Formats: sequence, C-alpha cells, structure tokens
Amino acid sequence: MGIIKELKNRKSPLIFGASEIEKEKIGQLVEAARWAPSCFNNQPWNYVFVHKSHSTRENLESALSAGNGWAKRAPYLVAVGVDPDKDCKTNNLPYYAYDAGLSVMCLTVEAEHQGLRVHQMAGWKEEKVKEALDFPQEYRVIVVFALGYEGEATEIWDKLEERTKERLAEIRTRRPPSDNFLFGSFRPTD
Ligand SMILES: Cc1cc2nc3c(=O)[nH]c(=O)nc-3n(C[C@H](O)[C@H](O)[C@H](O)COP(=O)(O)O)c2cc1C
Repeated sequence: MGIIKELKNRKSPLIFGASEIEKEKIGQLVEAARWAPSCFNNQPWNYVFVHKSHSTRENLESALSAGNGWAKRAPYLVAVGVDPDKDCKTNNLPYYAYDAGLSVMCLTVEAEHQGLRVHQMAGWKEEKVKEALDFPQEYRVIVVFALGYEGEATEIWDKLEERTKERLAEIRTRRPPSDNFLFGSFRPTD
C-alpha cells in the first residue's frame, strides 16, 4: 500500500505553463489553506495572491533572487506573511512560521489534487516583497511560492535560463529514513 497520490506525485516544478487557473480552483486552495491546524487556532497567515495581470506583479518579481527566474512564468506568485505577535511563543518557538508552513502544505496538497503545482521559495528579498505588496511593517514574509499548471520544457526550451536547464536534469532524492526517523530515543538504546 503506497502513500496518498497527492504526496507521492507532488514535486516542485521549474516549468509552469501559460494556462490560467480556474477561479473555483483558487477557491479550493484557499479553503484547504484555511482549514490548516495552528497553535490555539490562531490562523496567523495572510496570503497575497499576485496574478500576472496585477499591477504589483513586476515589483514582486524584482524581489526574487536571480536563480528563481523560472518562477516568473507561473500565472500566480503568492507571498505568505505573518505578524509574529499574532501567534504562540510557547517554548520560545516561532510558531508563526510553523503554522504558516502547515497552511502552505495543506494548500500544496490540495493544489496537487486539483492538477496544479506549487514551488515554494526562500530566494527573495524580504523588504522588497513587503514593499511590493504593502505588507505592514511588523509582518515577516515566510515564503513566496509559484502556483500554476506544470508546463513542458520542450515548448519553451530556447527561453529557459541555463541554470534551469541544468536543474531539469537533476534527480529528486531523499535521505534514507534512518537518517531522520528515530524510534525510542535520539540515540539507539537497545
Ligand atoms: C522553505 C523552502 C524554500 C525553498 N526555496 C527555494 C528557492 O528559493 N528556489 C528553488 O528553486 N526552490 C526552492 N525550494 C524548493 C526545494 O528545493 C524543493 O522542495 C526540494 O529540492 C525538494 O524537491 P521537491 O519539492 O520536488 O520534492 C524551497 C522549498 C522550501 C520548502
């Protein structure tokens, strides 16, 4: 018995197609993200969906690091921001970031279910993202992700950045389970 197909098939694509996302599907993604668990049900996240047609798009794109040029082809770039003071600080941990991540993962799995794909990014300048989208000063931007239908590399090969072409050949891998998953204690006792 395998894991659910949305988790098994999910991947972060480098190629997004030009197809628009149906409005109802955006609604489903919002629904999935909003039902995520959060510390004390604080739901601290704010998502800003930026379509290619939005006037803010150009400035948001300019906040991305050079290596994330592939993301500009996605119909939507989405920035997730949180006010750190609006979530738990139990154990002095940044639950605002943890909760935002849980919510984005819920959206990501639903996107996969809808035939869409998400590619999360840490490569952007926070101040530029905040300025481009008018986030309040006290907010932290947690992630920016590209959202859309995956496209065919062959159809746009000549337009691809060299780095993107190289990355397309990379094989997705994971560490063996024993590196990360321990039973009984951190160090084996028996
Ligand atoms: C928090 C976070 C930040 C990431 N930042 C970037 C990024 O800036 N650029 C990029 O191309 N991929 C980025 N990724 C994608 C990861 O490289 C990718 O998830 C990882 O290689 C595993 O591949 P997979 O998602 O296809 O399983 C990021 C992913 C996460 C969760």
